[in-house]
Amino acid sequence: MAMREESKLSQTYWGSMSRFGVDGAVIDPSDIRGYKNAYIKAYRDAKIAGAIASLDKNSCILDFGCGTGNITKHLNSLEMRAVGIDIAFDLLALHTGNAALLQYDGGRIPFRNDSFDAIASYTVLNHILNEQHLLEVLCELGRVLKPGAPYVCIEQTRRIATIKKIMDGEHKKQRCIQDFISLFSEAGLRVEQVQPFRAGHFPLIYPVRYGFVPQSMFPLLFKIDKWYSSLLCRLPIDYFDTLFMLRKPA
Ligand SMILES: C[S@@+](CC[C@H](N)C(=O)[O-])C[C@H]1O[C@@H](n2cnc3c(N)ncnc32)[C@H](O)[C@@H]1O
Repeated sequence: MAMREESKLSQTYWGSMSRFGVDGAVIDPSDIRGYKNAYIKAYRDAKIAGAIASLDKNSCILDFGCGTGNITKHLNSLEMRAVGIDIAFDLLALHTGNAALLQYDGGRIPFRNDSFDAIASYTVLNHILNEQHLLEVLCELGRVLKPGAPYVCIEQTRRIATIKKIMDGEHKKQRCIQDFISLFSEAGLRVEQVQPFRAGHFPLIYPVRYGFVPQSMFPLLFKIDKWYSSLLCRLPIDYFDTLFMLRKPA
């Protein structure tokens, strides 16, 4: 099947982002010092580790939309067997480590039905703007997941859905939580938990960005960020990283 136009454009865009390096390319390219990206990475990794804590060691996990393979690497460090998949070869090529990463065309995921004990993805679905395309992607993810297995999905959400320009030629869609829930349900994935946990404009991210907060204080900031997000996510003022715990029915 020919590659979708949306996937082709995305592939070109994400390939061009590789110039920002292993973290900047996939998180915030304007974070020259790297402190903000370190905060987001550490928080994201802690949320994913918590969400899969009940899995056996050596479980097979698909890191969907793995980019430069940061999450794949993290999952392997938790003694999981992780495989990353992405449409952008130039991002995969930046990977520093020995994780198994695979490029594909954004269509059929090149694994058999019921292959994985879990799936993890971080801000990938935001970059699939077309609802029908996204539904097909979610059905593919459901297909390769074992019956009864979890999908830990983190996406940016907003009270009112918005399409935002992120860099030259690329947009992302910050959907409402309810829009995601409807799409997941339509794809046959059960929604078990929804938790907005990181605010896009969390006030304390600014001292973090300029290096005024030591990494040892990050766990405390995660708690404040989660509390702040749970209060503000009802207002139409910011976006939030939201954790969706999904499961393929047994
Ligand atoms: C914001 S980056 C996040 C990368 C990675 N999940 C991380 O957190 O480090 C978005 C990623 O989604 C990938 N992507 C976009 N559309 C995709 C699709 N249809 N299938 C797989 N990956 C896709 C991009 O190539 C890019 O690597």
